[in-house]
Amino acid sequence: MMKKKSCSCFAAMMMTWLAVLFLICTAPVGVHGQPTTKGFISIDCGIASNHNYVDQTTGIPYTSDDQFIDTGKNYNISANSISSFFPTQALTLRSFPDGARNCYTLKPIVQNQKYLLRASFVYGNYDGENSASADKPLQFDLHLGANLGQTISISGPEVVEVAEAFADATADFLDVCLVNAGGNTPPSRNSLLSQCRYPDDPYDRLWVPLLSPRFRTISTSSPIRYANDDQFEAPSAVLQTAATPANGTSLGIKWFDKTGEANFYFVMYFTEVEVLPSNTTRAFDVYLNGVLLISALQPFYLLSNYAYTVDPISVSTEYTVTLNATTKSTLLPILNALEVYTSMQVTQAATDVNDGTILNVNLLEFR
Ligand SMILES: *[C@@H]1O[C@H](CO)[C@@H](O)[C@H](O)[C@H]1NC(C)=O
Ligand SMILES: *[C@@H]1O[C@H](CO)[C@@H](O)[C@H](O)[C@H]1NC(C)=O
Ligand SMILES: *[C@@H]1O[C@H](CO)[C@@H](O)[C@H](O)[C@H]1NC(C)=O
Ligand SMILES: *[C@@H]1O[C@H](CO)[C@@H](O)[C@H](O)[C@H]1NC(C)=O
Repeated sequence: MMKKKSCSCFAAMMMTWLAVLFLICTAPVGVHGQPTTKGFISIDCGIASNHNYVDQTTGIPYTSDDQFIDTGKNYNISANSISSFFPTQALTLRSFPDGARNCYTLKPIVQNQKYLLRASFVYGNYDGENSASADKPLQFDLHLGANLGQTISISGPEVVEVAEAFADATADFLDVCLVNAGGNTPPSRNSLLSQCRYPDDPYDRLWVPLLSPRFRTISTSSPIRYANDDQFEAPSAVLQTAATPANGTSLGIKWFDKTGEANFYFVMYFTEVEVLPSNTTRAFDVYLNGVLLISALQPFYLLSNYAYTVDPISVSTEYTVTLNATTKSTLLPILNALEVYTSMQVTQAATDVNDGTILNVNLLEFR
């Protein structure tokens, strides 16, 4: 099912899950036959040199970071700052007291492949200085090669900041750098908060349930089917639940971008999870910032449908996706999942790659 609008292209279509794509000192990569299983390079910063282990919860193999970086010093976070939800990777970190710019060189990777990069950061009061607070956050920039990816701001010892990016590799390595923004020393670490991810999601996207009193959840335990050409492969567990309005016939989701400059892209997933009696219809219109994108959408039963934007949405500080039941519909609209990305066009190639190469980076931000 394809729908085309003036500046955005929509394949077919569905929401109680929100994919939060973030960035790293880990490089889970979408490439096969890489150093660790399944094409991922997963790094636990701050653990002992040459140490490898398999995370018991996720089954993901981790390796120590010393083969990817020469600078910095290892620490454990303070015992008082350990939260019960922290994964093992959050307990150690590498701090960079020297130099304004410290880089991880992720390799080997395959040139011209697209990589998903994820970095997680926890301060954890590792130095006993209590130097991260809401008033005075710990700040530093994350660069991909020579290009600014994102500013990381950590507002407390137990705060986990995650950043994620897609990057096209222009060489057989990728540099991910922490750059002092003039404030505190950047800490670095790997940790993951997700509720649904690898191996359920072959790309290890993080899927976080979006819970709100405004939504009611409907679900199925039946497996979801995928079209042969499904480009997104959202996990079955994500598509088996859908959000529907708790009140009224309209379902709305809003996100904000305080910069007002980001180029947003999104993917919406629509799968019918209920057996509909023949005298009922579920049909709804999908709007973005009040503009009709899809008219009278009727999700297919247990089949993954999605709609995505090819071109960025018109820049704004506020974005609203609205699903309104059509007048003829007897049932409420549903949305199974939503992914939101921002992109940056990066023109300055990393120092060691071919001059003039353009690196396309998509950063997700959902605040
Ligand atoms: C971190 O804690 C572990 C276990 O207590 C200890 O073996 C290790 O030496 C500590 N690492 C650092 C850098 O202090
Ligand atoms: C549902 O909507 C009605 C009318 O707008 C409102 O009075 C009521 O508080 C809402 N209920 C909930 C649970 O939001
Ligand atoms: C559909 O049919 C069932 C059983 O005949 C009935 O109970 C229900 O109210 C009907 N629903 C609609 C929307 O007409
Ligand atoms: C969707 O429905 C809501 C509630 O009925 C209404 O306020 C809103 O204007 C509708 N949105 C659009 C774009 O028609």
